Amino acid sequence: MNVTVIGTGYVGLVTGACLADAGNNVFCLDLDERKIARLNAGEIPIFEPGLEPIVKRNEHAGRLRFSTDVPASVAHAELQLIAVGTPPGEDGSADLQHVIAAARAIGRYMEGYKVIVTKSTVPVGTADKVKHAVIDEQKKRHLGNDFTVVSNPEFLKEGAAVEDFMKPDRASSTRRSRETASASS
Ligand SMILES: NC(=O)c1ccc[n+]([C@@H]2O[C@H](COP(=O)([O-])OP(=O)(O)OC[C@H]3O[C@@H](n4cnc5c(N)ncnc54)[C@H](O)[C@@H]3O)[C@@H](O)[C@H]2O)c1
Repeated sequence: MNVTVIGTGYVGLVTGACLADAGNNVFCLDLDERKIARLNAGEIPIFEPGLEPIVKRNEHAGRLRFSTDVPASVAHAELQLIAVGTPPGEDGSADLQHVIAAARAIGRYMEGYKVIVTKSTVPVGTADKVKHAVIDEQKKRHLGNDFTVVSNPEFLKEGAAVEDFMKPDRASSTRRSRETASASS
């Protein structure tokens, strides 16, 4: 399926590359032109074991691309994953300005139904803020396309991010407990 990843930092790049490796057609967006230029020149801006061959393989296969084109990123996929930074403010709370900016961009350009997934680390109540940001932008266009906001926080660890993504411990432990449950019933 088509997937857009908004924010091609640590989480966005690993997520985008691994989703492409699973066969999806992934558009990685970032507003940092230098970062996108480096990626398009074949450079991996972070060191993460196992990541480089995955990026290269999937770029070569045409399943992974990097761009600063916001309208194209919104048009690319029904599934929009927000993986932008949420740096802690002075009081330690997450700064949501990039998450809300990403949501506004979706609302500004969306032409049909979207599933908007927050992968960034955000506090409870952020889904409502994302929803209102999208609605606000749609109102300016006198539009009211349907959309769904989903929370899917990321728990990968730097240095083991590819491994964490490909073999998620929480998902496999759920599977194990189901197997255990059916084996014991
Ligand atoms: N790095 C980790 O180990 C880790 C682990 C789990 C969760 N997280 C969470 O995931 C989120 C992302 O973290 P990260 O380490 O990948 O951040 P990062 O700073 O490496 O990357 C964020 C990227 O988003 C881009 N960006 C900002 N606003 C944008 C916008 N409106 N549109 C497009 N791109 C935009 C930035 O240019 C940057 O490249 C944060 O909420 C973080 O707390 C990080």
